[in-house]
Amino acid sequence: MNSGHLFLLFFLLPCVTVEAGFFDFFESYFDGFKDTNKTYIDDLRHFNSNELKKDLRKFLYGQHIAMKTIQNALSSFMEDSNPNKPLVLSFHGPPGVGKSYVTKIIARNIYKNGEKSKHVHTFKADYWFQHKDMTRIYQTQLREWIHGNVSGFPRSMFIFDEVNKMNPELIDTIKPFLEYNHQLDGVSFNNAIFIFISNSEMRTINKLTLDFWKEGRDREEIQMTSSGLETQISQNIYNDKNGGFWHSSLIDQHLIDHFIPFLPLELKHVRQCVLSEMAHLNMTEDFDLADKVARDMPFFPPEEKIFAVKGCKSVRQKLVLYADD
Ligand SMILES: Nc1ncnc2c1ncn2[C@@H]1O[C@H](COP(=O)(O)OP(=O)(O)O)[C@@H](O)[C@H]1O
Ligand SMILES: [Mg+2]
Repeated sequence: MNSGHLFLLFFLLPCVTVEAGFFDFFESYFDGFKDTNKTYIDDLRHFNSNELKKDLRKFLYGQHIAMKTIQNALSSFMEDSNPNKPLVLSFHGPPGVGKSYVTKIIARNIYKNGEKSKHVHTFKADYWFQHKDMTRIYQTQLREWIHGNVSGFPRSMFIFDEVNKMNPELIDTIKPFLEYNHQLDGVSFNNAIFIFISNSEMRTINKLTLDFWKEGRDREEIQMTSSGLETQISQNIYNDKNGGFWHSSLIDQHLIDHFIPFLPLELKHVRQCVLSEMAHLNMTEDFDLADKVARDMPFFPPEEKIFAVKGCKSVRQKLVLYADD
């Protein structure tokens, strides 16, 4: 444990509550530094691009752009023995459509312990960084956390959820880690993975998807380049004064490799989610019940009722209610 870790411990102690799993939190952190080589390498899987493809195809519904972009970006990054920068992805879209879920698919294709791996670090903005007046402290903690973990294990993954609620100064703190061939105190960050998740840009994405539907076009025809989707997303985020990326040098300096839109889900996708929950709950597959549960979810726009308001969120809870009938 170096002085940085002691510093981190000193500042984090008052902020971490018992509910947050205080002991787990520190145990896992400091255990990780005890036996660097063994603990870390044991958790790394041999990455197989075909397995990732199969996993995404089988378990991620209705997200053809995310599926393809993640497949290509992650595969080329993982297969590159000498990447020149960390992989930086930014997920956007409405709630309940698979943004957090896909990080679990990514994690299980990299680490044996999947999302539970010690090397997967998830930060939820309104939980971890809730006090505005503590930004300076958070900045120091975050810097130490990323540096400490990557120096112990280069293939670390950092997920920043609800990034639109994050203070821009905090996001700028992450910037040095994302740069091309950057070394901080002799540590390279080129093998790490950073994922930013937000609901921002859901209006742009919903509108485009609805326009395609109204024109009678197949949703799969929507591409990153459709109506300049990727450019629109990055520009809108940049100009959004309330979003965490505002004026952020991450966008200025093109440090985000891909802005990935997640589309609103349709009835057929929600039905797939219900079937997958049935399997998860060891229930007998029942297409009629899946249809019933899916149809009872709220849809928008009010007249056409095409897209699920909550995506696949709360599908399991709804299913359990019907299953009891
Ligand atoms: N596209 C999808 N394919 C398969 N399951 C999904 C999809 N979207 C959501 N789900 C299901 O709904 C749950 C909630 O989705 P989540 O990824 O947490 O939403 P968000 O996009 O808001 O992060 C997931 O855990 C998963 O079970
Ligand atoms: Mg989420």
